[in-house]
Amino acid sequence: MASICAMRVALIGFGTVGQSLVNVLHEKEAYLKKEYGLNIELVAVSDIMKGSVMDDDGLDKVELLKLVAETGSIGAYPKGVKGLSSVETIRRSEADVVIEVAWTNLETGEPGITHIKEALRSEKHVVTSNKGPIALAYKELMNLADENNVKLLYECTVMSGTPVISMASNGLAGNRVKAFKGILNGTTNYILTKMSEGESYGSALKEAQRLGYAEAEPSADVEGWDAVGKTVILANTLMSAGLSPNMVERKGITEVTSEDVENAEDNGGVIKLIAQAWMEEERVKAKVSPELIEFDDPLANVTGAMNALTLTTEGLGDVTIIGKGAGGVETAHGILSDLLAIHRANLG
Ligand SMILES: NC(=O)c1ccc[n+]([C@@H]2O[C@H](COP(=O)([O-])OP(=O)(O)OC[C@H]3O[C@@H](n4cnc5c(N)ncnc54)[C@H](OP(=O)(O)O)[C@@H]3O)[C@@H](O)[C@H]2O)c1
Repeated sequence: MASICAMRVALIGFGTVGQSLVNVLHEKEAYLKKEYGLNIELVAVSDIMKGSVMDDDGLDKVELLKLVAETGSIGAYPKGVKGLSSVETIRRSEADVVIEVAWTNLETGEPGITHIKEALRSEKHVVTSNKGPIALAYKELMNLADENNVKLLYECTVMSGTPVISMASNGLAGNRVKAFKGILNGTTNYILTKMSEGESYGSALKEAQRLGYAEAEPSADVEGWDAVGKTVILANTLMSAGLSPNMVERKGITEVTSEDVENAEDNGGVIKLIAQAWMEEERVKAKVSPELIEFDDPLANVTGAMNALTLTTEGLGDVTIIGKGAGGVETAHGILSDLLAIHRANLG
């Protein structure tokens, strides 16, 4: 059997995604060793409220999950260095990779930007699902990664584990992306789907909140901010656009009425919140807005909380990928796929 490589990871943020990832890494331990020759060791977890523990000899994943489930904290973990802040953890741990899964902030990018800079400066690879830093500081962070000879991967920032970024940069390599349009926000797609079934905006929003798709304060989704963040990430990654969120034209779904939805059907389509970018006079333009999508467009059939993206490419024409855009397990698998990409690059 081929030799097993060890990869030490430090986890910043131990919420839904962080816990799902630790569970997936535990459940797939034998499979990852057998299929990829990789042993992923968790050497630190740091969360602002749930506590922090670091042990370069490795942490017990099951014990951490049990503690957080039973007590809401990892403070009682029996070994290791306790109580370090996220920044101290990043600096002091001997991790090869920092996994940044703390809160998203699309106005400041913090605390994610600080976490990612600290990790890159200490020559640790970074995998993140946090949109804020990638939407707001893409160029600076990628330059920092290059200067320190490490990778910064962020598959899960758009469509969670559905591999849009790796599909474009690996599978479609050499095949320029000329434009894209997609449904990148599951909450608004769920609300619009319910409206097309006859519900009002208000009751569809309430239902989305009850199911946990929408926050109690839903403006990031319904006003289009979340989709703007993802549009910027895609445009900068796939089209070298150099955009920031304030350069994206934005209109959310709060003004879409039941009448608009009915009229759309009469006009041969459905209303979707569309995130798009295209070339105009040598520059990339981008916008997020409710649009009429004709019934024969693959995006018209993407219902509920699903996401989808159509890339218009030079050599293949339109390529559409449809998949889940949220969920702890789904996002954990996107992070795992980034970790495996780092492993493959290390094997060289
Ligand atoms: N959930 C999804 O489906 C999904 C999909 C794609 C991307 N994402 C992104 O992935 C990230 C994690 O999502 P999530 O659903 O796991 O969110 P979550 O459940 O709110 O977890 C985030 C965790 O980060 C912790 N945290 C916040 N600031 C911190 C800091 N300075 N240092 C250390 N820990 C800190 C929070 O602490 P406390 O709560 O303990 O205070 C919380 O436990 C977010 O950026 C999100 O946008 C999520």
